[in-house]
Amino acid sequence: MNSRFNASWLLRNCLKESSAKDRPPDYRGKVRDIYTLPGNRLLIVSTDRISAFDHIFAEPISFKGQLLNMLAWHGFQKIADLCPHHVLEVPHPNITIAKKCSPVPVEVVVRGYLSGHAWRTYSNGLRTLCGVSMPDGLRQNEAFPEPLLTPTTKAHEGHDEDISEAEILSGGLVSEDLWKQIRQTAIALYKRGAETARKQGLILVDTKYEFGLFDGKLTLMDEVHTPDSSRFFYADTYQECLDKGTPQKQLSKEFLREWLIQEGHHAHMDSVLPALPDTLRISIFERYCELFETLTGTRFEPVETEDFNDRLSTILESHSS
Ligand SMILES: Nc1ncnc2c1ncn2[C@@H]1O[C@H](COP(=O)(O)OP(=O)(O)O)[C@@H](O)[C@H]1O
Ligand SMILES: [Mg+2]
Repeated sequence: MNSRFNASWLLRNCLKESSAKDRPPDYRGKVRDIYTLPGNRLLIVSTDRISAFDHIFAEPISFKGQLLNMLAWHGFQKIADLCPHHVLEVPHPNITIAKKCSPVPVEVVVRGYLSGHAWRTYSNGLRTLCGVSMPDGLRQNEAFPEPLLTPTTKAHEGHDEDISEAEILSGGLVSEDLWKQIRQTAIALYKRGAETARKQGLILVDTKYEFGLFDGKLTLMDEVHTPDSSRFFYADTYQECLDKGTPQKQLSKEFLREWLIQEGHHAHMDSVLPALPDTLRISIFERYCELFETLTGTRFEPVETEDFNDRLSTILESHSS
């Protein structure tokens, strides 16, 4: 247990849903509450909600929203020379003011290693994922010779499905020119993310990007290189775990997925969600916090969320013209 924070204080400080004075959000996603602003802008609140296998849990994770929003902001700054991003301003640790993009209807997953969904596919004997072939003879969590791009559809409800490049183009989801640009950009972003993580002793295993168009330009939106959108392994223990075939020490939501599987829940479960025990909620907070501190090289300084809705109302008001 991270002795810097008291458990009951942590559990008291959770932002499950935001609501400004007289104004609920225009959209509540799994994690974010979104308020539209004039001038083609969005005010995005990262809340402390956590989801897994496309379900949102009733119990929030203390400060997850701040950790996620601040990590994304850190990540966006690290890639700004490669691709325009959506952030205009971060006026509070839970809030980003962003350019309102028209979303590209595909989520772009880049995988440097044979893990997660790619491993589950591979261990079932398949050697193709989203139309991309995977070489024979790889072990779980081994690096691919080159990063793979494995897109998914962006489902409004339910879970995203794998889709191949050929299906994206033949279905007219994205034009050929734009897809070419997305592909190149996503690989460059992954390489930068991996390089940045490596300097901090972490391996960026795989990650998901969401792109949109703003003023006709390809723009990276949503979040980047966060534990909700990516998997990270510790670099120093990577080779040993790979050789021994033991689980990698990792910092991501995989921790929660593993707990669920242990409790008998599986991917794409339709059943009732289990309640997250307080000890698990604290451990998840600690993982997110550790990832934040490792990746940014700075200490996480939480801001209490008791008066969050008042702060939100003030920020909304000051951005409403
Ligand atoms: N700059 C942006 N412009 C338009 N849409 C955005 C932007 N950034 C993020 N989004 C969208 O806002 C939503 C973010 O909320 P989230 O809780 O992640 O939702 P979801 O449940 O859809 O994953 C996502 O649907 C994401 O695609
Ligand atoms: Mg999302």
